[in-house]
Amino acid sequence: MSDKKILKTKLCERLGIEYPIMQSGMAWTAGPTLAAAVSNAGGLGVLGGTNLTPDEAREWIRQTKSLTDKPFGLNLILPPDVASDDAPTDFKDLLPPENVEFVNNIMKELELPGTEHYVPWGDFNFEAMQKIGRVCIEEGIALFGSGLGDPGWIINEAHEAGMLVSGCIGNTKNAMRLRDSGVDIIVAQGYEGGGHTGRIGTMALVPQVVDAIQPTTVVAAGGIADGRGLAASLMLGAEGIWMGTAFAATKEANVDLEGMGNHYYFNAWNESWKKKIVAAIDESTVVSKMTSGKPARHFRNSLIDYWEKEKFSYLPLPLQSILVWDLYSNLAKSDKSDFMPQLSGQSAGLIKEIKSAGDVVKDIVEQAVEILKKTCPEG
Ligand SMILES: Cc1cc2nc3c(=O)[nH]c(=O)nc-3n(C[C@H](O)[C@H](O)[C@H](O)COP(=O)(O)O)c2cc1C
Repeated sequence: MSDKKILKTKLCERLGIEYPIMQSGMAWTAGPTLAAAVSNAGGLGVLGGTNLTPDEAREWIRQTKSLTDKPFGLNLILPPDVASDDAPTDFKDLLPPENVEFVNNIMKELELPGTEHYVPWGDFNFEAMQKIGRVCIEEGIALFGSGLGDPGWIINEAHEAGMLVSGCIGNTKNAMRLRDSGVDIIVAQGYEGGGHTGRIGTMALVPQVVDAIQPTTVVAAGGIADGRGLAASLMLGAEGIWMGTAFAATKEANVDLEGMGNHYYFNAWNESWKKKIVAAIDESTVVSKMTSGKPARHFRNSLIDYWEKEKFSYLPLPLQSILVWDLYSNLAKSDKSDFMPQLSGQSAGLIKEIKSAGDVVKDIVEQAVEILKKTCPEG
């Protein structure tokens, strides 16, 4: 049996990819360079589209096309408080003054300059999300994904254009909801995962989701960073994996924002993030509402500790993100890496070096093939 065949799942056929490895669409971290590298290596690269304007999304898609002729996707988060027709279109004026004062006091205590930065979350509304969805259809990419919420509104148009739609969930109830909306690929992400995360571990979640929504395609996420994780996910009934942290630690991650004026590019931040992943152990991360107002897994850091010590409340998404934006930008600029809340999953403890994204795919494939050949030598 060829290496390829043992890993070939229905997901590979549907997406036109060689290996069932999807790189998650991490905002800022997953730009054209990373997505193209993963697609060129036989997986599916996915652009992190959250916080891009529709024009920027089109630009990133076109840049990716210039780097690969393989399929790739784009991911947004679609939180229900924002991605609905009756949601406010501008959240900036809704910040409570006491929360703004709390953050201003932290800035003073840390002697941060407090410079006003562009807040991309301020342009974060349903209309912009729908426009980005339309851009994906017009550009003819392979996948539109959502990290939070229900992408049901795009399904009919997407399918007419031959584009698949994925959605990320953390429990069987939401898996069934997205299946009922017609979502093609359900990403079941366990508690171990970096970024927004639910309460159930990957090992328990994936088979329960598979049982609940079969024959809908399930992809496993959370805590997977090597070939053992891929092999185990296939054993649990998933058709592939969706990995964030392992790709955030690659050479190609986080390189595309440089020069994109208003966006969040700080070399010190990016370098410290990758180094932190390599230095991490299994207990280095913690779940906090600090970054967006929804539970998300970050590296433990002094800002999260401080906020929790003060027992100060978190605002709901997207207000918390807007609230902390200036603080984050200034922390990054001032290179206060102890205070910079960086997203990462528990799998960081498995990552020992910063590789190229192509090598990450290759190493995972080789290890998974070896394991699966031993497990089922006859194929
Ligand atoms: C640095 C980082 C940024 C992320 N940003 C996003 C994002 O913008 N949108 C999203 O849907 N998920 C985001 N996630 C979550 C991932 O899409 C993915 O579900 C998760 O990383 C999988 O778990 P793992 O980190 O254990 O591989 C992010 C994760 C990380 C580590």
